Order: sequence, then C-alpha cells, then structure tokens
Amino acid sequence: TDQVSTLLMFGATGDLARRMLWPSLYGLHHDKLLDATLRLVGTARSELDTAAFRDQVVDALKEHLPAEFYDEATARAFVQRIDYLAMDATDPAAADKLGALARDYPGKIAVFLSTAPSLFKQTIERLVAAGLSGEGVRLALEKPLGTSLASSNEINDAVAAAFPESHIFRIDHYLGKETVQNLLALRFANAIFEPLWNARTIDHVQITIAETIGLEGRADYYDGTGALRDMVQNHMLQLLALVAMEPPASFNADAVRNEKVKILQSLRPIAQDRVESDLVIGQYVEGEIGGQRAASYVSELGGPSMTETFIAMKVNIDNWRWAGVPFYLRTGKRLSSRRTEIVIQFKKVPHSMFEAGGAHATSNRLIISIQPEEDITLELMAKVPGLDFGGMRLREVELGIGRADAFADVRRRIAYERLLLDLIDGNSLLFVRRDEVEAQWRWIDALRVSLAASGIRPQPYAAGSWGPPAAKALVGRHGVDWND
Ligand code: BG6
Repeated sequence: TDQVSTLLMFGATGDLARRMLWPSLYGLHHDKLLDATLRLVGTARSELDTAAFRDQVVDALKEHLPAEFYDEATARAFVQRIDYLAMDATDPAAADKLGALARDYPGKIAVFLSTAPSLFKQTIERLVAAGLSGEGVRLALEKPLGTSLASSNEINDAVAAAFPESHIFRIDHYLGKETVQNLLALRFANAIFEPLWNARTIDHVQITIAETIGLEGRADYYDGTGALRDMVQNHMLQLLALVAMEPPASFNADAVRNEKVKILQSLRPIAQDRVESDLVIGQYVEGEIGGQRAASYVSELGGPSMTETFIAMKVNIDNWRWAGVPFYLRTGKRLSSRRTEIVIQFKKVPHSMFEAGGAHATSNRLIISIQPEEDITLELMAKVPGLDFGGMRLREVELGIGRADAFADVRRRIAYERLLLDLIDGNSLLFVRRDEVEAQWRWIDALRVSLAASGIRPQPYAAGSWGPPAAKALVGRHGVDWND
C-alpha cells in the first residue's frame, strides 16, 4: 500500500478527537494495523508540551473506550507515537511551524482537519505556504462542509487550489460503519436480491436515524444547522444512495462513487406546493426518555428557536428503477430510542388466497439495522402451526442474519477506524467526492427555498416520542406505517 508516514491531526484536543479519533487510532494500533514507523502529530491552540498532550490522550482513551478494550500499557505504548504542536491557524506564524514540521517529518503526510470549518481556508493557506500541499499530501475534511452549495463550493475551491481531487478525503462517518458497507455485500454479493430491487417488487423504502440525545453542548453549531443539514444532507442521502444505486462494475472508488452520484442527481426536488404534504419538521418539548425527564430544546438552548430537531419526508428518485417508489426518511433528536435502520418494504402478493392477519400480512420486509445492533432480517410469511378450521393462519417469521451472533468473535469497531486507515492507505472509496457533495447541497438548497416559502414551522413533539403526530400522518396517507 501507499501508506503515509505522518498523520497530522488539526483539532487534536477537540471533542471529536477525544471521543472518536484518538480511540480509533488506538484501536488500529492495538490491532497492529499501523506501521511501526507511523508518526501521529496532534495540533491545536492550547500551549501544551508533548508529554502533557499524551496524558490528555490517555485520559480520553480511558474515558471513551469500552473498559474491556482499554489497556493501560497499550495506551502508553500507543501515545509514544504522538507528538504535539501548539499552533493557531489564524496566525501567519503557523506556516513557519508547519514548515519546520515538514522538515522534521519527511515523507508522505496525511492532514486531518477536524476544526471549525471557518478555519479550513486559512489552515489550507498555511499548509500551502509551508509546502504541505499537492501530490505528497492527503487532506481529510470533517463535516460540516459548508451550509449551502455556495459555502461548500468556497471550501471545495480553496481545497482544490492546493490538492488534486484524488488526494481530498471528505468524511461522512456513516460510510465507515460496518453495516453500511455490508449493504454493498448484501446487494452485490448475493444473486437473490438484485432482481427484486426495483419498482416492480418494492413498495417503498424507509430510512430512520433516531437519536435519544439532545443538544449535547453543541448549541452554537446545532441551532444554526438543524436536522435537515446536520443529518439529511450527508448521512441520510449517503444511505439512500447506497440503497438505490445501480451495481457498480468494480469495487473501486470511482466506480462506486459514479453510481452514487447518479442517484443524488436524480432526487426529485421538493417544490413549494409539495412541502405541506411531503414534509414534516418538529422540535422537541419536555418529555421522558427511558424513565428520565428530558428538557425541551428551547430550555436546553436557553432561548426561543425555530430550528428543527426532527424531520420526516417523502423523497422520490426519478429514474427507471425507482419510478413511483417513495423513500420515506426521518431523523430526530430526543426520540424514543436510538435506532438507525433501512426498511425495504416489498409489495403484497398480487392476489392472496389467505385471510389477511396482521399489519404486514402477505408482504415481506427486509430490515437492515445499523444501530444499536447490526442485523439484517428478512420477514417472511409462515403458517401458524395448528388445526384452524376453514382457513390458514399466517404470521410473519424472521430470517435473521444476526451479525452479532454470526461474527461474535469480531470486535465492533468505531466507524473512524476504517476511515482513518483508508486515509493512511490512500483508499478513497468510502469518502465523498466533490460532485456528490454538490448534488447533495443542490437538492437541500432547493428544499430550503421551498420550506422557507411555504412558511411551515417546526411542530412540537414530546421528548421520548417518535416525533410529531404529523409524521405518522405523512406516511399514513399512503397506507404506510413507520417501523416504530
Ligand atoms: C453527526 C451529527 O454527524 O452524527 C450529530 O452532527 C449526530 O448531530 C451524529 O448525533 C450521529 O452519529 P452516530 O454515529 O452516533 O449515529
């Protein structure tokens, strides 16, 4: 492989780094997936020396890794790879520090930006000034990549001026999740699903990302963002693209991303006159989750707000395969439980000779659950044993590919382990290409124009519920129930 010899982490003391990035690198180190010579350099504004920073990393590992996986000696050995460089990207002197770093750590380098996006442009200027750009450098960018097509283009243009597209690694951490990748295996390593995977057999698709957490101290970011741009623009549209895309001809970065981008470009814009019927936004009020009181969004925030913490919508893909098949998407904070799943609802049998019994009688569902458990379940109709008089009673039974059981011996990884390793190795298959981001934003921008013009407001929903009642009505109008 084409491994880099140094990984430079901007935002090294930040929340994402502490919760995800250092624990992921520890996991890779633990499993001997990092070259012994790979150096990790953390940089942030805090004036720390390397020893103090290493202690901070050890603390973060202790706090965020599962206790059974954390090992003090391994952690201490791991942090020996890490150096720290205090730096303020807004200060031109940062370029000199980076120049010195480039001399001290010769060889290929990967730079990971997990700072505020407002710092991206300046940081890139400093990197360029220090000679850390072009072919010898890979650049990874953490979200959010702008708040609109225009602002994301500004970032993308700044990056493109310094790096070729093949060296730019835009992160959507959902692509690092195991079941998301397993979706590719399910669809393209099995012959039985693909012939059914279209408008002839599939009634609709549901994609849910439900969270129980609320603001989590991210008020500044979240209140200016909302569920549409925080979750739909990136994670949900990526999941949708993977479910809906045509089979790629090969398992390489461009082949797969070519197919995804076609879906993103085929999303039907939601016009203003469709907003009322096809979209619901909500904001949580006080409620109870798992026996615990949860405050309202407004009181967590400390002031009034029109930001949506929930969104449900009906989306169509205008191509041959999916003509007439609705994709129902919903995501929200402070919902009833943490659950990420994709439900493929197949059509009913054309004619049933059995009495219908139960909601999904004589139709099948494939449930791909991503969180909290990784599972794939196919619901089939079966006869209930017994000697029923005059008819036959049916009930759905589950054919499960319980990943938890089938692969019990395999450690569950953090999504960022996959992504960091791919960055180090230079494999961009699971990163988002520029034309994908653009298609995502183009569709979201148009939707936001429709939303603003329609004047709809977030409807209240109790924390611990499944969102405003209108979200149920949205699918109910089409004879559909969410898989709550
Ligand atoms: C992030 C969002 O991108 O994804 C957060 O900014 C959200 O608001 C998170 O909580 C969800 O990720 P996961 O992996 O916990 O489902």
